[in-house]
Amino acid sequence: MSVPYAKVIVNPVAGANATRRRWPRISRLLKKVGLSFDYQYTEGVGHAIEIAREAVGNGYRYLVAVGGDGTANEVANGIIDTAGDGTIALGVVSTGTGSDFARSLGIPRHYVDACSSLANCSTALIDVGVVDCHRNGQPLRRFFINSAGIGFDAAAVQTTERLPKYFGGTIPYLIGLLRTLAGYRNQSVVLTVGDEVEAVDIQGQVLTSCVVEKVTRRKAYDRTLLVTLRVPRELATTVASFKRKEAVPFEPNPEVWQTKIDDETIVCRCERVTAGEIRRLIRDGVRDMNQLKVLRCGMGACGGKTCEPLIFSLYKREGIDIQEVIPYTKRPLLVEIPLKILAGMKEE
Ligand code: FES
Repeated sequence: MSVPYAKVIVNPVAGANATRRRWPRISRLLKKVGLSFDYQYTEGVGHAIEIAREAVGNGYRYLVAVGGDGTANEVANGIIDTAGDGTIALGVVSTGTGSDFARSLGIPRHYVDACSSLANCSTALIDVGVVDCHRNGQPLRRFFINSAGIGFDAAAVQTTERLPKYFGGTIPYLIGLLRTLAGYRNQSVVLTVGDEVEAVDIQGQVLTSCVVEKVTRRKAYDRTLLVTLRVPRELATTVASFKRKEAVPFEPNPEVWQTKIDDETIVCRCERVTAGEIRRLIRDGVRDMNQLKVLRCGMGACGGKTCEPLIFSLYKREGIDIQEVIPYTKRPLLVEIPLKILAGMKEE
């Protein structure tokens, strides 16, 4: 079997601009090992995706990325976007600073050896991951062929990308890592991988188990996540909410825990009850949180969801073993009240 004619996509600035210098030698090596090809330089971020798309559209069945992990990722995105059927081969000559993709697949990391490996016919089918995200407010779908990072990992890469490209190798990553370490603050991340939950009706009765399809955040709904569940069609209009299958153990955030809560602090926000009022009842021996309802604690619109963890922390601060404390009795999510009851009429 012969190696197909290849499109070689070269990122000249990869590896702290070293790829432009190395390309003439790489090109000679590729010809020497018998690869037939033409090549094109990339001209900026995202350009390798366009070149790859166009090449696949023009009938190329073998695309080679010369550059770093970013170049290989862009070429892969161009291929998958256009022909995600596994019929197009991706070759890599790694000249970037990280070379994680080459390392994980056992492709030689030195470009001389990598060129030799491109002319043999061995290929491997690899998994591809997909990320749906937003950039500048616009939805964006990107594929990844090696790994995807979030939180600290992503912040370190972002810092590294902004550094001037003076150095090659791992030095930029180390600088990016150290800079990020110095200023990084933990981010809130919602990770959803087909979580199974229980869909409930308006009374809180479980209707069915179902899978979380997606979790989205809309600008129009400040701090509210929209959760999409997959439920049988006949239940779609009855489902009012959902709950987790397993209770999530409550662990106070240590930063919040160390914050002083003075007596004037409002703990039950719905009913404007202060920490001092609750402390007095705790010190009087109240261990059943339902008894705190004499202060109207937990009787507000949130049904105690907001103040319950805070009151638990007040118990802890008072040195009470949390096992002794009886939590609020949970009430249904909502109870419908016919309008005639509000108008003073009797129910039939
Ligand atoms: S905060 Fe206490 S009931 Fe809502």
